Amino acid sequence: AYCSRLIGFGGCLPERIVTNQELSETVDTSDEWIRERTGIHQRHIISGNETCTSLAVNAAKQAMEYAGLTVDDIDAIIVATCTPDQVFPTTAARVQQILGIKKGFAFDISSACAGFVFGLSVADNFIRNGQAKNVLLIGSEVYSRILDWSDRRTCVLFGDGAGAVILSAEEIQNTAKQDKGILGVYLHTDGSYGDLLYVDGIPSRTEDSCFVRMHGQEVFRHAVTKLSEVVEEALKANNLQHEDIDWLVPHQANLRIIAGMGKKLHLSSDRVIVTVDRHANTSAASVPLALNEAVRDGRIQKGDLIVIEALGGGLSWGSSLIRL
Ligand code: ACO
Repeated sequence: AYCSRLIGFGGCLPERIVTNQELSETVDTSDEWIRERTGIHQRHIISGNETCTSLAVNAAKQAMEYAGLTVDDIDAIIVATCTPDQVFPTTAARVQQILGIKKGFAFDISSACAGFVFGLSVADNFIRNGQAKNVLLIGSEVYSRILDWSDRRTCVLFGDGAGAVILSAEEIQNTAKQDKGILGVYLHTDGSYGDLLYVDGIPSRTEDSCFVRMHGQEVFRHAVTKLSEVVEEALKANNLQHEDIDWLVPHQANLRIIAGMGKKLHLSSDRVIVTVDRHANTSAASVPLALNEAVRDGRIQKGDLIVIEALGGGLSWGSSLIRL
């Protein structure tokens, strides 16, 4: 039997930084409002030649370097994105070509802000059933392309970026007693809330607009309850308690949601990884970007138990427990 270990981490943020102050020059908002309600100070936005694919490639290269793997070692690439550069080929196929990978398979998955957690489950299953040994999983998003820059209720909340991890197969004797790697991924969708957070078009129908629309307060309310339920579900499934958790690596949508989760789990704030202040909400990229930062600066160490969680359009949400 196999389990998945996380052995590589990477991230890429666009060069251009847009501050709250800068936004307040074009929409009716203020640095103070954005900081107070969301914790966001700035976001990175693509410019020049930067694309969803280029961000993904840079994050992937870093993750492969961290893991000490070459292109010959990667046998599956999954990109979680809902802002690809093209309808097809998939972003993952483009990444494969640019990295010079010739074997294996590559595809995208789309589950908005929950995309990384859903992708983690897919990748983990490929490894558990022996279909892949090293899976490159990337979250890459360029929400700047699907924001209505005249809508202050949404345009201040998001940023562009990509994060990547590599999952690698490790043989274990007894899956029932697994104590390392991805211990489990717990996923949910309730499509009846689809109209709380959606994009009002699709790029292949050019007559439509194609912008993020959101009922912020209701999404906030669902995020707070559903995320804590799905983290409790993960703990219960693994017979673990709050005090067993070393780190919370949450989806980075709003500092108030993140701080609320930390409190519910009885974690001190220095045990909660926060990037939303600098990155804003990078959707499927936010969790791997946060992981990358905290692993590279030495906060998260091998052997630590981390919990990740995310909720997004669908509504879809999920969590995972990982012993690094
Ligand atoms: N600047 C100034 N004023 C604003 C802005 C802005 N950028 N945006 C909204 N307002 C105004 C509103 O128009 C409203 O004014 P009104 O009362 O005159 O109509 C007032 O501020 C209050 O608006 P609310 O929507 O009630 O503000 P709230 O405190 O709920 O904060 C926010 C809004 C930040 C969007 C919050 O609801 C939130 O974070 N929700 C979670 C949604 C989220 O993060 N979604 C991301 C994707 S899903 C996910 O990743 C979890």
